[in-house]
Amino acid sequence: MSELEFLKAEELLKGDMVGQRVRTRGWIYRTRHKGKMVFTVIRDSSGIIQATLFKGDMEEEKEFEDAKKALVESSVEVEGILVEDARAPGGYEIQVRRFRVIHFAEPFPITKHQSEEFLMDKRHLWVRSRKLTEIAKIKHSVLKAAREWFDEHGFYEVTPPILTGSAAEGGATLFELKYFWQKAYLSQSAQLYLEALIFSLENVYSITPSFRAEKSRTRKHLTEFWHLEAEEAWTGLEGNMKIQEELTAHIAHRVAEWNGKQLEFLGREPRELLKIETPFPRYRYGEALEKLAEKGVELEWGDDFGAPEEKMLTEDEKLPIFITHWPKEAKAFYMRWDPEDTRVVLNNDMLAPEGYGEIFGASERETDVRHLIDRLEAEGASLENYQWYLDLRRYGSVQHSGFGMGVERVVAWLAKAEHIRDTIPFPRTINRVRP
Ligand code: 4AD
Ligand code: MG
Repeated sequence: MSELEFLKAEELLKGDMVGQRVRTRGWIYRTRHKGKMVFTVIRDSSGIIQATLFKGDMEEEKEFEDAKKALVESSVEVEGILVEDARAPGGYEIQVRRFRVIHFAEPFPITKHQSEEFLMDKRHLWVRSRKLTEIAKIKHSVLKAAREWFDEHGFYEVTPPILTGSAAEGGATLFELKYFWQKAYLSQSAQLYLEALIFSLENVYSITPSFRAEKSRTRKHLTEFWHLEAEEAWTGLEGNMKIQEELTAHIAHRVAEWNGKQLEFLGREPRELLKIETPFPRYRYGEALEKLAEKGVELEWGDDFGAPEEKMLTEDEKLPIFITHWPKEAKAFYMRWDPEDTRVVLNNDMLAPEGYGEIFGASERETDVRHLIDRLEAEGASLENYQWYLDLRRYGSVQHSGFGMGVERVVAWLAKAEHIRDTIPFPRTINRVRP
């Protein structure tokens, strides 16, 4: 083999190097042979490129025999002349001169038409699929765009703990574990720790795994998901919502800009994402109940919305929507009561369009220590675990607000994924912790 630089498929498909000798490497995506020809397609992180071998053109005869033997997913280095060919994927192919098999793959277990269960068993191999690869690239952009937005708006990225002694989102979905001689939990949310950090850094955010022992098997629930959370000092409900919508629009625009190719493959028009403009519509919980009643769904005050209700509320909307001012009994102990209507709290959920469901949960936080104690006691929580949190209201308590965004849910929406499991390489659900 020569000393030529390895080029990615994407680079070669630009076509600037037509007529030149080029070199690439990757994995065999498709292969078939006929007489003195071997037709292969090589896959790398950037895409696929056709590489055709004609025995008479090969500089090493043995390599032609190796290419005939090499099965799908074998790793290879390929060198040859780049030519235009309208029939090839992307319009170009390599006419191969050298073909070095790095590793001869065993027969690949994943073939066409496999059950979802089988693909989950073989997830460590299925992550090589085009669909999961394109979605993974979109997820990378979502995280990068979010960091970019926070960085431009004066937020510090911080690193809260994952092992914790106090529940943020109630006991029902806690994963408990043995922590030497004590009990500990896997974090459901970094919120309580972010609240502690606003007293020094004022505006903070974190990107961490969060854990929920969700027994529900739906297309929106994971037991381990990536949580993007922010907390802002001196900020109320409306300021908090502005941050959420601006962040969401920024992420949608960046994904449209950076991931045109991926979106196209996944069936999402980048143009649709460029139309995500602020402000997003705002509805109070009470209004949402009325809207649902008009559509024939009678819910009681205090009821949560399930997937069908979320779908109904967003079916006539092009933008994500806010549902604000939820009944306090439906929401967490730390949410501030609305001084103008003590039946409700100063919070919002944000629902994605097209039935992708709740992508943000947010609120202004209660600042009064007495009030927090009352609410924790009413929930039967052990106050001992929360003393540190109550201290935050004892030393310079200020108005503050924050939110949590489900990264996989946002990716599912933007990438038009039918199931949340496609947005995380190794999904954790009620019946799966392997591979
Ligand atoms: O609405 P949640 O439970 O809010 C909190 O945890 C707050 N403490 C966040 C905060 O204010 N810092 O969760 C926030 C978001 C949800 O809107 C949803 O998008 C996502 O996290 N989420 C899940 N995503 C996937 N699987 C699950 N089981 C999820 N549970 C929540
Ligand atoms: Mg929520």
